[in-house]
Formats: sequence, structure tokens, C-alpha cells
Amino acid sequence: MHLTYLALLFMTVFEVVLSTRESREDRRKPPHIVLILADDLGWNDVGWHNPEVKMPVLNQLAADGVIFNQAYVQPTCTPTRAALMSGYYPFKTGNQHQLLLNLHPGGLPLRFKTLPQRLKDVGYLTHIVGKWHLGFCKEAFLPTNRGFDSFYGGLTLGTSHFSKMNGILSTPGYDFYDNSGVVPQTNDYLAFMLADRAVKIINGHYQEYPLFMYFSMDVPAKSPEVPPEYEALYANITDDRTRRFYGKLSVMDDAVGSVVDALKKRDMWDDTLLIFIGDNGALASSSGSNWPLRGIAATLFEGATRVPAFIHGNMLKQTGYENNELWHIVDLHKTILSLAGAESSCEIDGMDMWDTFSKNESSPRNEIVYNIDDDPISPGAAIRVGDYKLIAGNPDLFYPLRLINQSDGWFNYGDVPTSGLPVLPTGDEPPPPNVTYLFNVIDDPEERNNIADDHPEIVQALRQRLDEHRIYYMPAVNQVFDEAGDPSNFDGVFSPGWC
Ligand SMILES: *[C@@H]1O[C@H](CO)[C@@H](O)[C@H](O)[C@H]1NC(C)=O
Ligand SMILES: *[C@@H]1O[C@H](CO)[C@@H](O)[C@H](O)[C@H]1NC(C)=O
Ligand SMILES: *[C@@H]1O[C@H](CO)[C@@H](O)[C@H](O)[C@H]1NC(C)=O
Ligand SMILES: *[C@@H]1O[C@H](CO)[C@@H](O)[C@H](O)[C@H]1NC(C)=O
Repeated sequence: MHLTYLALLFMTVFEVVLSTRESREDRRKPPHIVLILADDLGWNDVGWHNPEVKMPVLNQLAADGVIFNQAYVQPTCTPTRAALMSGYYPFKTGNQHQLLLNLHPGGLPLRFKTLPQRLKDVGYLTHIVGKWHLGFCKEAFLPTNRGFDSFYGGLTLGTSHFSKMNGILSTPGYDFYDNSGVVPQTNDYLAFMLADRAVKIINGHYQEYPLFMYFSMDVPAKSPEVPPEYEALYANITDDRTRRFYGKLSVMDDAVGSVVDALKKRDMWDDTLLIFIGDNGALASSSGSNWPLRGIAATLFEGATRVPAFIHGNMLKQTGYENNELWHIVDLHKTILSLAGAESSCEIDGMDMWDTFSKNESSPRNEIVYNIDDDPISPGAAIRVGDYKLIAGNPDLFYPLRLINQSDGWFNYGDVPTSGLPVLPTGDEPPPPNVTYLFNVIDDPEERNNIADDHPEIVQALRQRLDEHRIYYMPAVNQVFDEAGDPSNFDGVFSPGWC
């Protein structure tokens, strides 16, 4: 009797202590979150993997934060963004097939509640600066109707950095918005215009609210223009494309630097979690490099999907090291929401990585689905469980941006000779090969040894696992072009109002 009473008393005291602690944690203000997504950033395109690249700001932030070695994204831009915004693998949202091109009438389906919508529910002020690329054929798809308080940037897959024009498989059109208004055309360099806007947002931020800034950069990306003073930083590099590409990486560094400076000046930096990650690997033909990883953007190889990433912030319990835990960009959705104290849908694929990020605890994730795309002209499907990765399909072809014989291989800067312009299929191509690749990506991260024949039982198990995921497969939203979206129908500006 006495003992029970004591035990009860003890438990009650213990609970009071616990709950006081919890409520203290609860009352801690949710952090400002700055999420920087770089466009087409190869494994080798960052200073901490390649010392030739000059990015002092990012190098220092990464060194003072946590560098990730097994951060995964989707093979192309739209699917990565769909996963981040929805928390689902894109084969479940219909965004798995390559990427939204200018005349695709679709986007991230409206039934998915986005990351910023959920952050707004708990009081965040939310801003997107840069590239959206999740649909614009109707107003409802625009970022300001998907949870962002403000939008300053482009709707399409990207533009030339000076002219803000894009003519990839459509008439060339202008693509630069300030909320719903079109920004007057100037010849200023887009990355710096975006950084200036990010700084303005920080300077005007109401400090009693937490800030979510999604800085979806236009660099490095495909378009080769770079301000001459940045190209000049690499005067001793003889290959033109590489010199310009490196220059864009240094632009990116300065842009991030001005955002960090602004946060420091407003005393927001100590409460800011900064997340930096690439949206997919480099397109080697535009001179980025995934070296020593295999493949280029849009394939199912590691070069397309395993990207440079780090986080930085005072709230991290352990910093200054490289973290080798497995995670996928869907997890950022869940992790950011849980850090913010916001709800997430219970069926999402994203997992809460906060203890992995902040304390180097082991990842709750043992599996990632690289993609499932049942379109006959696509790279197919790939999955990793533990150390093993299965690619089932055709890793050396992608449609319609096909770069025949230039996607399956190990490419360093300048190794791929063309400018990377898309080549439309003529109809005379041989049918896509149907391969089965099995790699141990821990022992063989460069995917040099296909061990499928040695381990038929693992191949079988991984195929079965893919089939289990296929139950949730949604047909792709971007299967046919609609000429109604051509910018020539909208005074030369990519605009909503055609679906
Ligand atoms: C260019 O110079 C830098 C030092 O400023 C050096 O690290 C790099 O290796 C040089 N690159 C070439 C191609 O000579
Ligand atoms: C992080 O965790 C891994 C796996 O437990 C361990 O091997 C590594 O030493 C840890 N790193 C640090 C800096 O504690
Ligand atoms: C691709 O490689 C195959 C086999 O190596 C060759 O027959 C074909 O001509 C190449 N195609 C192109 C476009 O280079
Ligand atoms: C590819 O090969 C696998 C294994 O042999 C088979 O199950 C699958 O149906 C094939 N896919 C196509 C599109 O031919």
C-alpha cells in the first residue's frame, strides 16, 4: 500500500517534471526556416567535394553545420519539388514523369496540401523566391494559391539568367513574376535579383512570426550566362563551359551570403535553420559534374539522385561532421513540419529526420524509391533497400530531353561535348533497352559492378517491393502538350488561363 502510494507520488512528480520540460520546449519559438534549393547541382559542384570551386560562404556554413552524404532527391526538378511540397513520392501524385515542360497542362494536383499551407496554419509567414515549376496553366496552381504569401520568380523550368526568356519546346516566352504581376524586363542577373528580394523580405519581416523562406535558386542550371566578373574568378580554367559553370557556382555563394548577412543584421540568424540541397544532379552536357557518381540528371543513377546537402543552425545538438544517414527530400516536408509544430498528413512518405539531423541518431529510413515511371519511354523504376539498389527499366534514355549515349557514364567537367539542347525523338529509334541492374551502393557507390546475376533472390525481393509500391501509382499529369499554353497566345509571357 505504502509502496504503491510512494510509486504513484514519484510518478506524479516525475510527470510534472516531464510535462514542465515539454511545455518549456513547446513554448520555444519555432525557428525561422530558410530552405535553399539549388538547380541542377552535381555531386562535384560544391567546394567541400571539389576544392577548385570557390564558395567560401557555403563551405563555411557546411563545415559549421552538418554535411549529408546520403541525401536523395528525385532525378528531375518537378518531381523533387512535388515531393518537397506534398511529402509524397511523386509516383503517388502523378508528377513522376520527367518534368513539366512549358506546354504541359498540369501541376502538383490541387488535392495535396502543401508544406507552406501547413506552415501557415501554425503562424509562419511564407515566401518563395525563385523557381516554382509545379504548374501554372491555371491560377489555382500558382505558388500564391498554394500557400505562399509572396512569390518572386519564374513559373517554368527555368530561363536564361539575363533575359528571363525560355523557349524550350515552345515559342520563346518571358517568365518573371512578382506575385501575379509581371516584372518589367531588365538585363540584370536573375540570381542577384532573387537574392535582393530575399534580403528585402528579411528586412521587412515581422519578427513575432516565424519565417519560412523557400529560396529556389535559378543557378547553376543549364543556361550558360554568367556575369563576367564571376567568370574571371576562374581565369586559369581553359575550358569555357567549365569556367562559366564555376562562375555560376560562385554567384550562388554570394547570393546565399547576402541572405545570411541580412538574417544576421536583423538578429534572426541565431533562430534560423538553414537547409541547403540540390534539386537533382548535374546535366553533364551543361558542364556540371556528378563525378565520381554515375549518370546525369533524369537517369536513375546515383549521379542524378544523390546530391550535396547540409544544414546549419543553433538548434542542432551536434555539428561540424559528416552525417552518413539515409534520407530523401520527402523527409524534409515532414521534418520541417514537425520542427514547426505543424500537422502533416498521416499517410505521407516523408519521415521525421529531426533526431538524425540534430543528434546524428540513426535514420528511421531503410528504403527509398528513386522513382516509378511506367511510361514506356522513361528510365523506369528504381528502389534501394538497405545497401542494395535495383534499377529496372532503361537508365540510358529520357524523353523528350534525350541525350543519347550521354546519360549513362561517368562524366567530369567538359566530358560531354554538346550544349545539351534537347533532341526530339524521330520515331526511328530502337526500342529502349530493358535492364536489370543491382548495385551495392555502399560498397560500390559509383555503380560500376552490376551484381544482379549473382543475387537473383535480392533482385526478386526488390522487384516485389517495387510492385507493392505500385499499388499507389498515379498516372503522370504531363503526358501531352497543349499548344493553348504557348506564350505567343499571351503577349509573349508564360501565363495561366489555358487549362
Ligand atoms: C587554378 O588556380 C587555382 C588556385 O587559384 C588552383 O587551385 C587550380 O588548380 C588552378 N586550375 C588549373 C586548371 O590550373
Ligand atoms: C555519427 O553516427 C555514426 C553512426 O552511429 C558514427 O559512426 C559517427 O561516428 C557519428 N559521428 C559523430 C561526429 O559523432
Ligand atoms: C550510341 O552508342 C551505340 C553503341 O555504342 C552506337 O551504335 C550509336 O551510334 C550511338 N548513338 C549516338 C547518337 O551517338
Ligand atoms: C523488363 O524485364 C523484366 C524482367 O525480365 C520484365 O519483368 C518486364 O516485364 C520487362 N519490361 C518490359 C517493358 O519489357
